[in-house]
Amino acid sequence: MKIDRDFHMMKGDDEFSYAENSRIQRRAILTTRPMVEKAVREMCRDLHPQSMTIVDLGCSFGANTLLFVSDVITTICENGNNAIEESAMEIQFFLNDLPSNDFNHIFQSLEQFEQLTKQHFTCRGLQPPPYYVAAMAGSFYTRLFPSNSVHFFHSSMSVMWLSQVPENLDGSMNKGNVYIGATTPPMVAKLYQDQFEKDFLQFLRMRCKEIVPRGRMVLTLVGRRSKDVFDAGRTTIGFELLSQGLRTLVAEGRVEKEKLDSFNIPIYCPSVDELKQLVCHNDLLDISDIQLFEMDGNCMDDSEPVEGPAAAQAIGQSTSAALRAATESLIASHFGDSILDELFTLFTRYFTSYIESEVEKSAITIITLYLQRL
Ligand SMILES: C[S@@+](CC[C@H](N)C(=O)[O-])C[C@H]1O[C@@H](n2cnc3c(N)ncnc32)[C@H](O)[C@@H]1O
Repeated sequence: MKIDRDFHMMKGDDEFSYAENSRIQRRAILTTRPMVEKAVREMCRDLHPQSMTIVDLGCSFGANTLLFVSDVITTICENGNNAIEESAMEIQFFLNDLPSNDFNHIFQSLEQFEQLTKQHFTCRGLQPPPYYVAAMAGSFYTRLFPSNSVHFFHSSMSVMWLSQVPENLDGSMNKGNVYIGATTPPMVAKLYQDQFEKDFLQFLRMRCKEIVPRGRMVLTLVGRRSKDVFDAGRTTIGFELLSQGLRTLVAEGRVEKEKLDSFNIPIYCPSVDELKQLVCHNDLLDISDIQLFEMDGNCMDDSEPVEGPAAAQAIGQSTSAALRAATESLIASHFGDSILDELFTLFTRYFTSYIESEVEKSAITIITLYLQRL
């Protein structure tokens, strides 16, 4: 599979779609909202551009994409200190993702979004700034915008996706694992680390060319608290259980062993120290803030039970649906789509029993970097 051409979250809005299974990512946006608001306010204060270009990288589609847009409009509108400049300010949003992203889904919901936004501000006696929304398809590991043209870059839960499966990670090096698992050789973990380093430095180089001096960037990604690359909390557990599901299908003769051995998910969860060190390689960027958050990792909606076996089952099902929405395009292109239902049924079962037996609650770690271009 060619990642930058074919990888995508599951399209549409049916039960397996990303739009219906992105509550964890929504929680990440809500958790990091104060940092985004602060960065937008500080960027307006320092630059007060008449026409502002704001980009969401790896925007995907669904309610989360427009939640970011709405948060920025609200922050700018409520930013009373610069009322005169802001009243004349216009915003150009660019929503970026890979070409296979369901951009139509976003544009089909824009009309309703605009109506609701207008109503929301009118009720509060506020006038939102004029804003325009466009898509920019392409990999964020390439140049996407003209030099010195972007005032604010945002990205949530996207930059941990690598540009490719680690270079030089060949067929049988990570036997029985789909990510860095307990039986992964250290050399393979190092290849993952090297690929992230290469990709993240490239990402920062591209953005530094595109962002205006004193422009701001807020990047949130799945990371890890531990220094140990083998321990990314609940993310590691999720991928271990996905590997276990595939090993079961190998044992049942449904999947060839070589197929499993040669499948690796192109994702990497860095630590705060790793991120700091990589940003330091780039002498045009200053870290204004970096924060680590732990989320309980439950992807259920609020109406579901919170205790007991029914809750464990609900967490198992919703985690399985969330993982499927994010990884189905990768799994289907490698193994074919006939194994999907069975694989994720197994995953639900394993994850439910993990939740039932969980003594110490594991968390999903996210890290938010607030950067300023010097
Ligand atoms: C988990 S989703 C997060 C989406 C959204 N920001 C949210 O919070 O719901 C990750 C997104 O990153 C996109 N992505 C991954 N690699 C990318 C790349 N190289 N360039 C642009 N987008 C990428 C994926 O296509 C996917 O839509």
